[in-house]
Amino acid sequence: MANTSSRISARIAAIQESATLAVDAKAKALKAAGENVIGFGAGEPDFPTPANVVEAAIAACREPRFHHYSPTPGLPELREAIAFKTKRDSGVDCSAAQVVVTNGGKHAVYNTFQVLCNQGDEILLPAPYWTSYPEEITLAGGVPVVLPTTEAHGFRVTIEQLEAALTPRTKALLFVSPSNPTGAVYPPDEVEAIGRWALERGIWVVTDEIYEHLTYDGHVFSSMPGLVPELMDTCVILNGVAKTYAMTGWRVGWMIGPADVTAAATNLQSHSTSNVSNVAQAAALAAVSGDLSAVVEMRNAFARRGRMMFEMLSKIDGVSVLAPEGAFYCFPSFEGVLGREIAGRTPQTTLELCEIMLEVAKVAIVPGEAFGAPGYARLSFALGDDDLGEGVRRIADLLG
Ligand SMILES: Cc1ncc(COP(=O)(O)O)c(C=O)c1O
Repeated sequence: MANTSSRISARIAAIQESATLAVDAKAKALKAAGENVIGFGAGEPDFPTPANVVEAAIAACREPRFHHYSPTPGLPELREAIAFKTKRDSGVDCSAAQVVVTNGGKHAVYNTFQVLCNQGDEILLPAPYWTSYPEEITLAGGVPVVLPTTEAHGFRVTIEQLEAALTPRTKALLFVSPSNPTGAVYPPDEVEAIGRWALERGIWVVTDEIYEHLTYDGHVFSSMPGLVPELMDTCVILNGVAKTYAMTGWRVGWMIGPADVTAAATNLQSHSTSNVSNVAQAAALAAVSGDLSAVVEMRNAFARRGRMMFEMLSKIDGVSVLAPEGAFYCFPSFEGVLGREIAGRTPQTTLELCEIMLEVAKVAIVPGEAFGAPGYARLSFALGDDDLGEGVRRIADLLG
């Protein structure tokens, strides 16, 4: 008998397309068709990768040992450099053996939940959340338990909320600071308190540190396992070179965890992708073992652009927005605009509003629905000053 089940597995058919990549693709397609579109959708620095990193990749191409398979969890010298850098930036003692190099931070998230989740395990997920988290949790058989945070509390989850969500099935908390999409940065005392809470309750922490170097106006990154070292036995750190070194296209990330977790992730990766491209790993090695001067330059530009975007958005009637503390996003509420007539239409949701913005004002922003926060939208400020100013002006004109 032929197998008559559907062509695509239910597991994969249930995945939503990445809304951020979809918005970016739509904006790029419109641009390619000659439209003057300004894209605030993509979560990537507009800077080129630093020259010394590019040179390291060129040299790696010529080196025969990089033409062949290398160890699945990463080049030994890169894992060493990541362990060293993690001590420097996060204050965490870890060994190279605890590092698994992955195809971008996204792949590190994927591996981590595949390794940690049994069917039905609950993962505490503060919202607004990065759009890929719930999909990666669900794919691993886990259940995202969404904990909405409020603008009034700076989009930071509280211990009370975590405590109230606890059940016998709770496996882990997903923690990210600086946050995509809200730009929120938790102060060190809150990071430590949440870490102590997780430790006491025996809850794993998956902590995404990918925006560690992008903080503004006196806000600083603090690493949860850096502040609560005892957590390291039940903690996975996620990170990568994408945001810090303007290397989104190179696809190098990593996970750091206890030995059983990294061994399991290595096994998984040995059957899926094997080693990350050696050329990209050589580039990442140059990036993480160098100084942070390129980051400082980018951070200064982002700080200025973030302030400019925040000030412009704040002046639009019906829009409320917090000053970005980290990452490179503003996350305004458009609640005050919904239900108004805009360009002859009356959007009731931010999904509809963002469609109108793209069609009429030729500005691409990502609706909050993609981040578990309807009524809001995400705008990246990692684009040039002129485009940024022109794009927000178009939004103001459309809504004004
Ligand atoms: C919070 C967060 N984590 C991880 C990633 C993954 O980055 P990449 O896969 O490009 O290394 C991103 C990218 O947008 C992100 O915003």
